[in-house]
Amino acid sequence: MSQSHHRLFHVFLSVLLLTASAVADSTLTQSGPIGGDQRLVSPGDVFQLGLFSVANNTKWFLGIWFTVSPSAVVWVANRDHPLDTSSGLVALSGRGNLVLLDAASNNETIWSSNSSSLGLGAAGAVAQLHDNGNLVLADEAGAVLWQSFEHPTNTIISGLRTGKNLRTGAQWFLSSWRSADDPSTGDFRYVMDTQGSPEMRVWRNSKGRQMSRSGPWNGVRFGGVPEMTTFEDMFDFQFTDTADEVSFMYHGRDGSPVSRLALNEFGVLQRMVWDRTALAWSVFAACPRDQCDTYGLCGAFGVCNVGGAVVCGCIRGFMPGSPEEWRMRNATGGCARSTPLQCPGGDGFYALRGVKLPETHGSTVDAGATLAECGRRCLSNCSCTAYAASDIRGGGTGCIQWFGELMDTRFFDDGQDLFVRLAKSDLEPTKPKKFVAVITAVITGFALLLLFFGFMILRKARRSKEVTMFDDIMRGECPTYDFGIIRAATGGFCPKNAIGRGGFGIVYKGKLPDGQEVAVKKLSAENRMQGLREFKNEVDLIAKLQHRNLVRLLGCCIHDSERLLVYEYMSNKSLDAFIFDSRRRASLSWKTRMDVILGVARGLVYLHQDSRHTMIHRDLKAANVLLDKEMVAKISDFGIARLFSRTGDDLEDSTVTERIVGTYGYMSPEYAMDGMVSFMQDVYSFGVLVLEIVSGRRNQRSFNLIVHAWKLFEENKSLELLGSTVRDGCSPAELQHAVTCIQVGLLCVQESPSRRPQMAAVIPMLSHQQALVRPLRPVVCMPMTAPAGLLDVQEVTSGCVGLTITSLEGR
Ligand SMILES: *[C@@H]1O[C@H](CO)[C@@H](O)[C@H](O)[C@H]1NC(C)=O
Ligand SMILES: *[C@@H]1O[C@H](CO)[C@@H](O)[C@H](O)[C@H]1NC(C)=O
Ligand SMILES: *[C@@H]1O[C@H](CO)[C@@H](O)[C@H](O)[C@H]1NC(C)=O
Ligand SMILES: *[C@@H]1O[C@H](CO)[C@@H](O)[C@H](O)[C@H]1NC(C)=O
Ligand SMILES: *[C@@H]1O[C@H](CO)[C@@H](O)[C@H](O)[C@H]1NC(C)=O
Repeated sequence: MSQSHHRLFHVFLSVLLLTASAVADSTLTQSGPIGGDQRLVSPGDVFQLGLFSVANNTKWFLGIWFTVSPSAVVWVANRDHPLDTSSGLVALSGRGNLVLLDAASNNETIWSSNSSSLGLGAAGAVAQLHDNGNLVLADEAGAVLWQSFEHPTNTIISGLRTGKNLRTGAQWFLSSWRSADDPSTGDFRYVMDTQGSPEMRVWRNSKGRQMSRSGPWNGVRFGGVPEMTTFEDMFDFQFTDTADEVSFMYHGRDGSPVSRLALNEFGVLQRMVWDRTALAWSVFAACPRDQCDTYGLCGAFGVCNVGGAVVCGCIRGFMPGSPEEWRMRNATGGCARSTPLQCPGGDGFYALRGVKLPETHGSTVDAGATLAECGRRCLSNCSCTAYAASDIRGGGTGCIQWFGELMDTRFFDDGQDLFVRLAKSDLEPTKPKKFVAVITAVITGFALLLLFFGFMILRKARRSKEVTMFDDIMRGECPTYDFGIIRAATGGFCPKNAIGRGGFGIVYKGKLPDGQEVAVKKLSAENRMQGLREFKNEVDLIAKLQHRNLVRLLGCCIHDSERLLVYEYMSNKSLDAFIFDSRRRASLSWKTRMDVILGVARGLVYLHQDSRHTMIHRDLKAANVLLDKEMVAKISDFGIARLFSRTGDDLEDSTVTERIVGTYGYMSPEYAMDGMVSFMQDVYSFGVLVLEIVSGRRNQRSFNLIVHAWKLFEENKSLELLGSTVRDGCSPAELQHAVTCIQVGLLCVQESPSRRPQMAAVIPMLSHQQALVRPLRPVVCMPMTAPAGLLDVQEVTSGCVGLTITSLEGR
C-alpha cells in the first residue's frame, strides 16, 4: 500500500505542470477561453484547474488538483480522451457547455460537459472553481447546470458525495486510474450498494468480482471501518438515506488540514491527510488493511480472524464445506451447517460478538424496529438466517435480517453483535448454564436444608411418603399423573380407544380434562416387574430427552402394579400405516418422504450423541416412527429398550445384551447372531427404514428388500425402487435425491458395523454435502425357510441358520 502510494507520489513529481499562470481567477466566462499554462484558482487558492501532462508530456489532461500538492489530482475531465500536446483550450461554448478544445486540431471538441440541453439561460453561463474543489457551471440566475462533484473520478474530497440518486438513478462512484501515470478509466470502482443496508464496495471490473466492502452504515460509521472513529475530530460524516437519495460524504471540520480519499490503480482505498509540516500526505486508513478485508476470504458462514494462527474459521454450528480445501488454506468454499435448522420451533440464535456484519445485499432493513422485535421476526421466519441491529447507538436498535448465506464476516475489536440462527442442539448453553448453575445451587441448598429437617422428622414419618418427597425434590422432571384421571381419559382403558399394540403393552388414546389429547401406554404384565424407584428414575431420564423428532413423554402414572406412560398424541399415527398401505402411500410425496427420512435421522443423531444420556434405540422400525398432524416424523419407544434391559445402564460402544429386543427385518446381522448392541445397530435399522420409505415395500421374509435394492443398484437402476407414481411426480433434482437416499440406505446396511456411517455423518450425505462411497455387497441373514430364489446374494453365515427370531416378529 505505502509502496504504491510512494510510487504514485514519485510519478507525479515527474509530471510536468505548466508554470505559474497569468490568469489567477476562479471564474471562466464566455469572454474567452483559457489554455496553455493558464489556470483557474479557487478564491482561497485551495484548488487549481488547468492542463497537466503525464508520461513525458505525451498525454495532456484537464484536471483539478490541490494547490499545496499539484501531484494530487482530484478530478480529470478528459480521462479517456487525452490531448497529445498542451494545445488544449478550456471554454464555454455558445450553447453553454463547458468544453475542452484541441487548438492543434482545428478546435475539435475533446470533451464536453454535455449540459447544453438546458438551453435558454446558457448565454450568461459561468464556470467557477470553488474552494471545496467543485467546478460549478451555473446559468445567469445562478442555477447549477453542471458540476464536477456529480462526476467524480478516483478521489473523494470533503463535500463530495458517493451514492445514488434514487429519483434519477444517477450514481456517484469512483473509478481508479489505469496506472499511476495514466488517468484513463482503470479496473476498479468504488460504489455504494443500496440493496440491503447501504455499504460501499470495491469491484474489479475485469474479473467481475468484489474486492472489499466497508460494512453497512451503523448510524455512526461504516461497520467495517472502525478507524473512522479515530478521525472524527477532523471530519464530520454525513450519511443520507431518504426516498430520494442514499449517499455518504464527509466534511472537513473548520481548521482541519486538507484530505482526500482515493482509490488507487490496485483497488486500494486510502484516506490521506495533508501534513502541513512534513509537506506530505499522511495515510490515515486504507482498505483492504489486512487479508481479512479481502472479500469472501473465508467463504459463506466463515469468519475471518486476522489474529488467529489460521485466519479462517467457521461460525459456531458450521464446519468447513470442503475440509481438504481448508487444509490447503483455501477457505473460499466456506462452511456448511452441522445440524440442519429445525424451523419452526427447534431453532435459536447464537450471538457472534464483535464482528463486521456480513454482506447485506439481499437483506432487509427496518430502522424502526427494536432489536428484540428483530429477533422475534427472524425467529418466526424460517428463511431468516441471522439478524443484527442496524444502528449501534443507544445499545443497538433497528433490524437487519439476512435470508441466505452469511458472507464476509470478520472479527473486530470494535465490531457489532450478529445473531446467527442455529438448531437448538448447536447452541451453547452459556447463559442458560449460568442460570441452571444458580438454580441448581439454590435447589441443592434447599434440598440439603430439607434433608436436614427431613432427617429430624424421618423417624416419625412414613417411609414411602418420604421417598416420594425426595424423589420429587431431587428430580421433579417427570410429572406423575393421577391414575383416576388417566383411567377416565381413556374411557376406563376401553378397547375401543386402543390405538396400537406396541412392544411393551397396549396404547390407548385419551383426552385429559383440559382437552389435551394423549397416548397412554399401559405396560403389559411382564414389563411391570421393575422396582418402583428404578422405573421412575428411568422415566425421568427419558422425559428429559426432548427433540423435535422424538415423541415427547409427558409423564407417567404408577398405581399398585400398574405402570402407565403418557405421551403426546400423534394424529397421523405411525409411518407403517402410510408406507405399507397402497392407497395412503400414494399420498406421500417425495418431499414428505425425504422430510421423514431426515427427521428420523436427526432424532437418531440426538439419541446417539447430542442428548446428555446417549442411547441406542434398538428397535427402530416403521411402526415406531409416528407422524404428527404436520407429518413431522417422531421416533417413539426410544428408551423403552433401556428401561427394561438390566444391562443397558451404561451403554458403551458395544455391549452384549441378555435379552434380544428387536424386530425381524430391521435387525443387524451382528445383533441377530451375537446379541452385539452398538449404535451401528440403529444405523442398520435406519438403512432398512430408508429403503422401505423409498420403495414403499416391507423388508420381510417373503421379499428381501435389501437384496432387491442391491440388485437394482448394481444395475444402475436404483430409481426403479420408487413406485412409478412417485417417480412420475418427481423433479430431476428429486430423482437425484432418491438415488442418493438409496445409496445411503445401502451404506447403512453393510455387514461390517465399522463400515456403516455414523448417524451424524448420514445427514450431510443425504443433503449432498458429503461425497458417498460405494456400498459393499450386503450379507443377508435369512432363516432357512426363505424362498431360495431370492438368495442369490452371498450366502448366510452359519450363525444365522439356527437363530430363533420368530417369536419377536410382528412387534
Ligand atoms: C521519459 O523520458 C526519459 C528520458 O527521455 C526516459 O528515461 C523515461 O523512461 C521516460 N519515461 C516515460 C514514462 O516514458
Ligand atoms: C480556436 O478557438 C480560439 C479561441 O476561440 C480562436 O482564437 C482560434 O482562432 C480558433 N482556431 C481555429 C482554427 O478555429
Ligand atoms: C458528451 O456527449 C458525447 C456525444 O453524445 C459523448 O460522446 C461524450 O462522451 C459525452 N461527454 C461526457 C463527459 O459525458
Ligand atoms: C479454492 O476453492 C474454490 C472452491 O471451493 C475453488 O473454486 C478455487 O479454485 C480454489 N482455489 C485454489 C487456489 O485452489
Ligand atoms: C420471510 O421473509 C422474507 C423476506 O422478507 C419474505 O419474503 C417472506 O415472505 C417471509 N416469510 C414469512 C413466512 O413471513
